Amino acid sequence: MDKKEDMVYPSGYEPPKGKDNSMETRKSLLHVILGDHSKEISEDLDTDLFEVMKRRRSTRKFETKPVENWKVEKILAAADTAPTAGNFQGFEIFHIKNKEMKEKLVEAANNQPYVNAPLVLVYCKNPSRVKLKFPKRMLTKFAIQDATLAAAYSQLAATALSLSTIWIGMIDEKKVAEIIGTDLEPSSILCIGYPVKRKFPKPRRNLSDLIHVME
Ligand SMILES: Cc1cc2nc3c(=O)[nH]c(=O)nc-3n(C[C@H](O)[C@H](O)[C@H](O)COP(=O)(O)O)c2cc1C
Repeated sequence: MDKKEDMVYPSGYEPPKGKDNSMETRKSLLHVILGDHSKEISEDLDTDLFEVMKRRRSTRKFETKPVENWKVEKILAAADTAPTAGNFQGFEIFHIKNKEMKEKLVEAANNQPYVNAPLVLVYCKNPSRVKLKFPKRMLTKFAIQDATLAAAYSQLAATALSLSTIWIGMIDEKKVAEIIGTDLEPSSILCIGYPVKRKFPKPRRNLSDLIHVME
């Protein structure tokens, strides 16, 4: 592995001096991700990323069956493997277990009833964590991207674990923040559970229309 003094960082992205770059936290994160759940893994876990992407489909009807703790752990740890600006992790995740809070979140999400799902995770931006010497506007942008990527990683992890999800962007940020008791600005809510019915993925436009090749 490169020695710390040999590492080269893009200008503005250098880690602060004296910061503990210990691998211990990283190792414990990977431990959760890779954790041995041999019995469950054989039945419920798809480790082929492209298969997972191929079959992901949003769900708005969940069974009442709760999400197992080992799955919740993997979904949360997956979020923390996402890249973040300068590796400052400019986001926070609120795991909403409280029943009344979930009901209030439905209201704060334009009365979308499926927000009251078995597993509800609120992803918030935390630009104050992003200790880069860039204008505030840039740090805010980084925090939105950090929070969004983290939620996307969780969404894929949930799919890999035979769960379904719905991404909620239609939220009243102020109301959501008030309900969960934070000063941070929420960016999205990820609702997760077992689908009542498994559906085929939705069609997309042709890749040739989506991709703009510049030669
Ligand atoms: C940024 C964003 C915001 C979204 N907001 C909502 C929402 O508020 N309510 C909802 O029911 N679905 C929401 N969705 C889910 C989309 O409707 C869904 O992903 C889309 O129809 C594609 O379907 P698929 O996820 O099955 O591929 C949102 C998705 C994204 C990425």
